[in-house]
Amino acid sequence: MAIERMAVIGAGQMGGGIAQVAAQAGLKVLLADATPDLATRGLARLGGALGKLVEKGKLPAAERDAVLSRIRVAESVEACAEADLVIEAVVEKEEVKRQLFQRVDPLLAPHAILASNTSSISITALAASTRRPERFIGMHFMNPPPVMQLVEVIRGLQTSDETWSEVTALAKRLGKITVTSKDVPGFIVNRVLIPLINEACFALQEGLATPEDIDTAVKLGLNHPMGPLTLADFIGLDTCLYIAEVLHRELGEDKYRPAALLRQHVAAGWLGRKTGRGFYRYGG
Ligand code: CAA
Ligand code: NAD
Repeated sequence: MAIERMAVIGAGQMGGGIAQVAAQAGLKVLLADATPDLATRGLARLGGALGKLVEKGKLPAAERDAVLSRIRVAESVEACAEADLVIEAVVEKEEVKRQLFQRVDPLLAPHAILASNTSSISITALAASTRRPERFIGMHFMNPPPVMQLVEVIRGLQTSDETWSEVTALAKRLGKITVTSKDVPGFIVNRVLIPLINEACFALQEGLATPEDIDTAVKLGLNHPMGPLTLADFIGLDTCLYIAEVLHRELGEDKYRPAALLRQHVAAGWLGRKTGRGFYRYGG
């Protein structure tokens, strides 16, 4: 079954980017959030990103307009009923995601696929909140979705081969390279990345070096595009903490314990770029 109509629920940095990628590949996209106003703001951010590409001469203005014409803001998540694939990109909290899937699942046609962009939460557990566990899958885009090549495809215990094939083919159509992961906490990327970020938080907490020197050391010493604290601010410190909590709780080892400094930043509302302050301050 060809996927032509996609709904993205959660119009934050990931949902907006996923909507952009899908619309650029020619799909019709419905963008939903907790309110139409939030979805409209997500669409405006996405329009801004496309506008920058036009300014840089990388995208013709007519193409930008064509991409935007394929994205529609949903009045409510109930508008997702027509979609062939619904991908969820709301906050990294299992209960919020479960409630959303319970609401959306009964609205969809039998052929429709439900996917989660979760960074760490069990796909099998999320699938169990629906009546279509065989049509449920993890489709994990990397941030920023329009730039990053990878999509991790995560098979829950009950995900069918057909669902896996359709989603893998869709990711390729979106211009992405896929890897397939078993349903273990953090999958592949965050199993490796979040301990790195968490260790950088412990190093800062212990006064090993300044944030700038920790980032410069990793950036230049390991040839990473961003240092771990800059990357954590970019991902969102709330998201980093929620992922670290899943790894710690589900894998049960002390080495995954989130640094107190990370918890404090989240408690203070210093969530990184999206709130203007994290380990660094962001202008304006
Ligand atoms: N649409 C299309 N293209 C875009 C874009 C958008 N929305 N935003 C940026 N770009 C393009 C720019 O046009 C630019 O292209 P050129 O190099 O051809 O000019 C390119 O992307 C880089 O953008 P910038 O010049 O603005 O910025 P930069 O060079 O500083 O790169 C970055 C920014 C791509 C984010 C880079 O710093 C980077 O790769 N950082 C690491 C990101 C990373 O590790 N992501 C994974 C996080 S982990 C994750 O996602 C999983 C999880 O669950 C937490
Ligand atoms: P974000 O905070 O930028 O956006 C989350 C969006 O979800 C917000 O717009 C919020 O209003 C909306 N939302 C919250 N509850 C909702 C509900 N019940 N119904 C509809 N919308 C709701 O977060 P993000 O960084 O885009 O992350 C979203 C998901 O993607 C998380 O599961 C995260 O782990 C995952 N992810 C994040 C990154 C990253 O680098 N930030 C990378 C890959 C995957």
